[in-house]
Amino acid sequence: MKRVFGLIGFPLSHSFSRKYFTEKFANEGIEDTVYENYPIEQVDLLPSLFTNEGALIGLNVTIPYKEVVLPFLDALAPDAAEIGAVNTIKRCADGSLMGFNSDIYGFGETLRRFVPSTFSSGALILGTGGASKAVNYVCSKMGLPVQSVSRKDGDSVISYNDLDVAVMSEFRLIINTTPLGMHPDIHQSPGLPYELLTPEHYLIDLIYNPAMTRFLTEGEHRGCMIKMGWKCLSYKPRNLGKSGTTPRVSF
Ligand SMILES: NC(=O)c1ccc[n+]([C@@H]2O[C@H](COP(=O)([O-])OP(=O)(O)OC[C@H]3O[C@@H](n4cnc5c(N)ncnc54)[C@H](OP(=O)(O)O)[C@@H]3O)[C@@H](O)[C@H]2O)c1
Repeated sequence: MKRVFGLIGFPLSHSFSRKYFTEKFANEGIEDTVYENYPIEQVDLLPSLFTNEGALIGLNVTIPYKEVVLPFLDALAPDAAEIGAVNTIKRCADGSLMGFNSDIYGFGETLRRFVPSTFSSGALILGTGGASKAVNYVCSKMGLPVQSVSRKDGDSVISYNDLDVAVMSEFRLIINTTPLGMHPDIHQSPGLPYELLTPEHYLIDLIYNPAMTRFLTEGEHRGCMIKMGWKCLSYKPRNLGKSGTTPRVSF
């Protein structure tokens, strides 16, 4: 019987996971293994997915399920538990489901290679969903002051209307974790005062389809340093699969 891996999220039209893994399995001679997309419309369909797909042993998790999937899991790797979001689920030999978060590793490598070691400004994180949790965790671990920006009111967040000259000069690293600009709505972008961007700013977009989003294009026009989302996908952890470690870079 084929081993089955896959991706849950909704919708999945933006994702190239299936193509990536299918080519990877072929190129590396990994046989009897397939990768399927499971665009489930509600996260509570996850248990029946595992019941119906007996050969399913691993899932990647994407927008919008990285946080809401947690109640359906039996155990979490420590870093995933700390941030409250997963992007990978492993069905263990005893049938239990364990969650991991390899976004932490992928984004950490991206950030470490992108900003200079002397960078001392703060990080502005756009959006407060599942991916933002890993971004927040990594920035904080690197000692960067962090400020989240949200459409919702909250104690620790500011709104897009608060992004004035003072905020934009205090926080010179800006990370888009919202889906604004993602395929097929590629003309959208987060509501920033783009005219306040300077060559001192560093922009990262987690969106990888398209590679060059409107957010990054606006920054590039103003001389910002920019980093495309697909870069977060291309770093592989050294330590694979053990409990408490990130098992594999995924998207
Ligand atoms: N390149 C990579 O390796 C990588 C890894 C992980 C994720 N991603 C990408 O990151 C993006 C977010 O994924 P996710 O799993 O974090 O999704 P998510 O859990 O749905 O969170 C997205 C957040 O974006 C904000 N948002 C949503 N719609 C918005 C809108 N119309 N206007 C303004 N803000 C909006 C919301 O925050 P507020 O409610 O606080 O405004 C929401 O919580 C996706 O594009 C995903 O593909 C890429």
